[in-house]
Amino acid sequence: MVKIAVLGYGTVGSGVVEVIDRNHESINKRAGQDIEIKYVLDLRDFPGDPVENILVHDFDIILKDPEVKIIAEAMGGVEPAYTFTKSALLAGKSVCTSNKELVAAHGAELLEIAKEKKVNYLFEASVGGGIPIIRPLNSSLTADEITEITGILNGTTNYILTEMAEKGSAFDDVLKVAQDKGYAERNPEADVEGYDACRKIAILTSLVTGAQVDYQDIHTEGITKISDIDFKYAKELKASIKLLGMSKKVDGVFYSMVAPYMIGQNHPLIGVNGVFNGIFVHGNVLDDVMFYGRGAGKLPTASAVVSDIVDAVKHLNVNIMTIWERRKSSLGSFEECTNKFFVRMKDKGLDDDQMVTIKEAFGDVLYVKAPGVKDELAFITNPIKEEEFAEHLKKFDDVYSVIRVDF
Ligand code: HSE
Repeated sequence: MVKIAVLGYGTVGSGVVEVIDRNHESINKRAGQDIEIKYVLDLRDFPGDPVENILVHDFDIILKDPEVKIIAEAMGGVEPAYTFTKSALLAGKSVCTSNKELVAAHGAELLEIAKEKKVNYLFEASVGGGIPIIRPLNSSLTADEITEITGILNGTTNYILTEMAEKGSAFDDVLKVAQDKGYAERNPEADVEGYDACRKIAILTSLVTGAQVDYQDIHTEGITKISDIDFKYAKELKASIKLLGMSKKVDGVFYSMVAPYMIGQNHPLIGVNGVFNGIFVHGNVLDDVMFYGRGAGKLPTASAVVSDIVDAVKHLNVNIMTIWERRKSSLGSFEECTNKFFVRMKDKGLDDDQMVTIKEAFGDVLYVKAPGVKDELAFITNPIKEEEFAEHLKKFDDVYSVIRVDF
């Protein structure tokens, strides 16, 4: 029998309790031992809930109980989760988490402590919800040099963009529906500004490079400026617009970015719609591999946390080696990245030399039209460095939209 504690009885924490209860027979069989939840920690009370009798409000009770070998941390946010996790690992308890903010900020340090203490810090649920991606990177794909990892890593924004594509709706209207349906938070900033996807690609890139990638160093753009008119052009181009988190190795250096991209029918992530996530990985011997599934939600996320708990039970007193050192990974500079750009700007009419200026700035571009859209010019550039593109774009006022293009 292995006793565990669950920190936080919100969406994910209650999901962990539910999954362990629902599938206890097969879970115990796979773990090789019975798993029992001894405590659930939350500040709130839950009268009448099945966890009522094991609910505690003081983390010290869990920390000081030698019977508790594994903790599932589903609190979210950096503090107090960081303090609790660190003290649990130092006390010789394994911790399994869905907390991407904490993993992105302190993953390397917490892994180091886990290694010293011969326990485990596992975080499958921190990226891609229920999709297995952390464990594959750490085991199944270890024969490869990974040269690209690109993902649709945020379910909320993918839902919004899919609705905009399919229904032609405006961003604000879809966001409101997403909030009413409970997909998007009341404060949706972390999702729509790309911060959530940024933390996730930082975690994946840290694992791929084996060293710390600070999310603050990753150029991040959200989807708030994407309009229904952009989608009219995308439709004409048989493309779609997706928020991508990506890390690509070019000449031995990884370049990372989070931004909306117009992607074409041949892109591996084109079919990832709604709240689903997809992660594309390219290895130098395996070639391409895709991971697809529910990137958020109570039970899918809990499924990943519980799979970590099972792994922790199977590795009591044995550290599963994960290479993510504290030294900083040296990412290539964003300004050096090369991209194609879709640009929309006000059409100044025939009296203006606008098209000549566009040609001088960007060379031969591909002009695009969309049905019903008037008084503007839209075009796609050839591949150009970010720095150069930004410099040339300054020559134009009344720019309505800029979206990177991958087709
Ligand atoms: N807000 C996140 C999303 C939850 O929408 O994908 C899962 O990390």
